[in-house]
Amino acid sequence: MSAPSLIPAAENEQRERIKTVVHPHADAAAALLAADIATLIRRNTAAGKPTVLGLATGSTPVRLYRQLIHLHREQKLSFKHVITFNLDEYYGLPRTHPESYWRFMHEQLFNHVDIAPEHVNVPDGTVPRDGVFAWCRAYEDKIRAAGGLDLQVLGIGRTGHIGFNEPGSGRDSRTRLVTLDALTRRDAARDFLGEANVPRHAITMGVGTILEARRVVLLAWGEAKARVVATAVENPPTDTLPASFLQGHPAVSFHVDPAAAGELTRVRHPWLVGSIDWKPTVARRAMVWLSQQLEKPVLKLLDEDYSEHGMADLLTEQGPAYGLNIRIFNEIQHTITGWPGGKPDADDKHRPERAAPQPKRVVVFSPEPSDDVLGMGGTLRRLVDQGHEVTVAYLTSGNLGVSDEEAAMAAELVLELDRAAPAADNPGAAFAREIRRQLGTKGAFDGDTPDIRRLKGILRRGEARASLQTCGVDASRMRFLDLPFYENGRYRQFELSENDEAVIIALLREVRPHQIFATGQSADPSTVPAICFEVLRRALARTQAEPWSADCRVWLYRSPDREWEPAEIEMAVPLSPRELTQKVQAIYHHKSQRSQSPMVAAGLHEAWQQAEHHNRAIARAYDALGLAEYEAIEAFQRWSPA
Ligand code: F6R
Repeated sequence: MSAPSLIPAAENEQRERIKTVVHPHADAAAALLAADIATLIRRNTAAGKPTVLGLATGSTPVRLYRQLIHLHREQKLSFKHVITFNLDEYYGLPRTHPESYWRFMHEQLFNHVDIAPEHVNVPDGTVPRDGVFAWCRAYEDKIRAAGGLDLQVLGIGRTGHIGFNEPGSGRDSRTRLVTLDALTRRDAARDFLGEANVPRHAITMGVGTILEARRVVLLAWGEAKARVVATAVENPPTDTLPASFLQGHPAVSFHVDPAAAGELTRVRHPWLVGSIDWKPTVARRAMVWLSQQLEKPVLKLLDEDYSEHGMADLLTEQGPAYGLNIRIFNEIQHTITGWPGGKPDADDKHRPERAAPQPKRVVVFSPEPSDDVLGMGGTLRRLVDQGHEVTVAYLTSGNLGVSDEEAAMAAELVLELDRAAPAADNPGAAFAREIRRQLGTKGAFDGDTPDIRRLKGILRRGEARASLQTCGVDASRMRFLDLPFYENGRYRQFELSENDEAVIIALLREVRPHQIFATGQSADPSTVPAICFEVLRRALARTQAEPWSADCRVWLYRSPDREWEPAEIEMAVPLSPRELTQKVQAIYHHKSQRSQSPMVAAGLHEAWQQAEHHNRAIARAYDALGLAEYEAIEAFQRWSPA
């Protein structure tokens, strides 16, 4: 990873104003970058110079830090001559707070390497308000006195922030106190156990401070970052997206995984940046794009529309427009089916799912309770109504996503019942009393005790049961797998083991499914859906020689992180207005997941609203292409192991 040249390396990178390397996986990128940092440290140490690193927190760099720890342990990489400056810290949080960045950095890196405590610099979130300005200047002076940053590591927020330089931050901004964007606070809500607990302010290095680093690397994983990465890399710099200011830096590079690269022009619209192989899937994507650009249904596209929009070679190869239009129209038409499990006794040559066998054994894997109904509540109901044997498997209990207030309310309810109908020996009431005691002694940000986690898991089970009942799934067909990685872990500290795989393998062997529905394949690899997908992928790899496996299709349902374009959809299941309402009702049962913040509730931020919005948007997109007009559509892609 040497310093990038400003001239695009390839024709298809011509729109990219920042060198962007797409790595096969986040781990591969982290390993390369760690090796690069090790070389820098060793070279400087040999020359008797310190290495000054600018570091970031958040989920993104965790893999990099793990690799650095590995190099320290296995290859004796020493941090004795490393000086670090962290980008930012929440204002108001003492170092001891579980979510302080000071603590994060110690847990994720510093405690595991031989760095000298006096070489560690993290902005101080406890400086009194009237001393912040002087403190920030001193931080900058300290960076300069150390010789300036040799390398700055960055993540990127969905607002386009680097550090906590939210939209509106200027190119020349310096270390200062800032107000956090609403989206940033929402993204941090999970870590803080509720948005209300997320601090409103932070101290951050400025964009100008970051730009003074001799080299800058920005990392991004998962489809939720795809749009912001593409905008920062391809659009002109603007303070509405501070990461775009990195474009001016002489030695900056972005390192992304394939999902985070998904919106770059070379990936999304490759026909605009070079000649390409017009495979059917690419032709379909290009035509849908053309139809959307021109706001014309597919069947009305003209030869000149193609040639005027960089698709003349498609026309030459596969045209004229008339035949091409019909072909693509039919392809999209064939993705639509009201029979997600296959239509019995029908000719299935052009259907997304095969007709036989009927009924099918289906397993819907849901990372947490509620992902299933959010992603495919309508389809789930159809599968059940159409007689398939549907098992819904919840991979995790989702107990980390339940607030203490919810747990307290549940405990009080049990105690109230006990008061209404007292029983001499009531273990439920004893448990509730114990929960009440434990909640009373728990600090707002302490981790949950095993009892509290158990209660929170029970709550989510109850919600899942109620929700699935409205979809017609029988209670005997619900499986709560409580995968060990989740039950024994906490956010950012999940570790997969063979035990997780074993649970899935046992279920697969028991059910021998014909159809599997899953999600999370393109999510940030540190998130619960991505980890759950990884366990499933491994389990499927280990069972691929088993007879049922050859006859099993895997369908992906969408995660809320990125909208799917019609051209990416391989099965589109229409929902009637009534089915959409039923789906929303099913989601509604997940009460503990409803937003508690009035500010959030005012927008389109509740999960059910997003799901409804998305399902309607797909229907509108199909309609605009000239297909039938439905109320809403749930979408699926087929997945096969690479
Ligand atoms: C962290 C920081 C932020 C994060 C960004 C992405 O020190 O400054 O800019 O890099 O919010 O966060 P994650 O990695 O959690 O997606």
